Amino acid sequence: MNRRILLIIGGGIAAYKALELIRLLKRRGIAVTPVLTQAGAQFVTEMSVAALAGEKVHGDLFSITDETQMGHIELSRAADLVVVAPATADLMAKAAAGLASDLASTLLLATDKPVLMAPAMNVRMWEHAATRRNLAQLRADGVRFTGPESGEMACGEFGPGRMAEPETIAAEIETLLDAPGALPEGPLSGRKVVITAGPTHEPIDPVRYIANRSSGRQGYALAGAARDMGARVVLVSGPVSLPVPPGIEVIPVERAEEMLAAVKEEMPCDLAIFAAAVADWRVKEAAAGKLKKQAGPPRLELAPNPDILATIGKMKRHRPALVIGFAAETEDLLAQARRKLAAKGADMIVANDVSPESGVFGGAHNQVHLVTAQGVEDWPRMDKAQVARRLMERLARMLADAQ
Ligand code: C5P
Repeated sequence: MNRRILLIIGGGIAAYKALELIRLLKRRGIAVTPVLTQAGAQFVTEMSVAALAGEKVHGDLFSITDETQMGHIELSRAADLVVVAPATADLMAKAAAGLASDLASTLLLATDKPVLMAPAMNVRMWEHAATRRNLAQLRADGVRFTGPESGEMACGEFGPGRMAEPETIAAEIETLLDAPGALPEGPLSGRKVVITAGPTHEPIDPVRYIANRSSGRQGYALAGAARDMGARVVLVSGPVSLPVPPGIEVIPVERAEEMLAAVKEEMPCDLAIFAAAVADWRVKEAAAGKLKKQAGPPRLELAPNPDILATIGKMKRHRPALVIGFAAETEDLLAQARRKLAAKGADMIVANDVSPESGVFGGAHNQVHLVTAQGVEDWPRMDKAQVARRLMERLARMLADAQ
């Protein structure tokens, strides 16, 4: 497997250690695309970096040659991992604020890959409230850190601020590269989240089934948001035509009964979210062979399906700590949602209007109302990814408060 990192070398005395880091990585068979900031170039030369990496060094945001060969967006995504070493106070601040004022900060803003930072700075800078704030923000954004270590610093002071040793950084890089599904750190780190999504298919015979119009998009978006916030996510999915999201364990099921069995298998968990549009009924006895048209329209006897949300909602409430349901309605939205909150033992019902004119079913947008025992919160219309992100942030806070 070709493993490649994008290495951003910031401007600090520790930049000389980045040279040793490149050497160690190359020895481990990890390719390095180097980016040298202007400040970094004051400490190490472009020539040494290029010679050790065996690659062209990128340094300028507005380089015509670079843009014609490989644009900076592409550059930020062509590696498996982005590493910033040394990560200076300035680079951390830029990344935390989402600035794109030079090549390094632009790459950090444009990347969709995990980011590892090895901070290095004077101890007072490291301990300054601004750096603390930036560190907390970057952690919340999913950035990982290695170091800094404590010890004597180049400036003669003592304390935390020394960049981690190249061996330590290289080992961390290798761990991250070898675990492609490696979870970012975030407010849901260490949490297990189980999500149901999509429709269920209830067979009539081996080729026909009863189904509904659910696309699974909202559930998949929730799974992605939970993963990005550091959770271990299990997605129990009915048949959908969505790609399997990376870093998420997907358990494909067809029928409601299979979905319930799969969900039970995954208990206990911290957060159980039921976004699937489970068919309320199944055909009591599906035919073993394909029904013949000549035999005339079949009389289908239906039987109720198990209510997965209610089954888990009524389980002893320790873990899952929070049980969340959805209520898709075409009328009496809030009254129905309140009834479901109580009847199914949920901590929250996310209510949405799915009348045909809303365009929610199968569409990219959603307008939700959060119904809890405390009351109702109305959210504006957003796309499903935004709903997912905001909802997961909200649930992470609820989870933290509940424990
Ligand atoms: O009762 P209703 O189907 O409207 O409730 C919707 C909520 O209950 C959703 O969260 C859905 O995922 C969940 N549900 C379930 N199992 C069922 C029916 C609904 O988990 N059989």
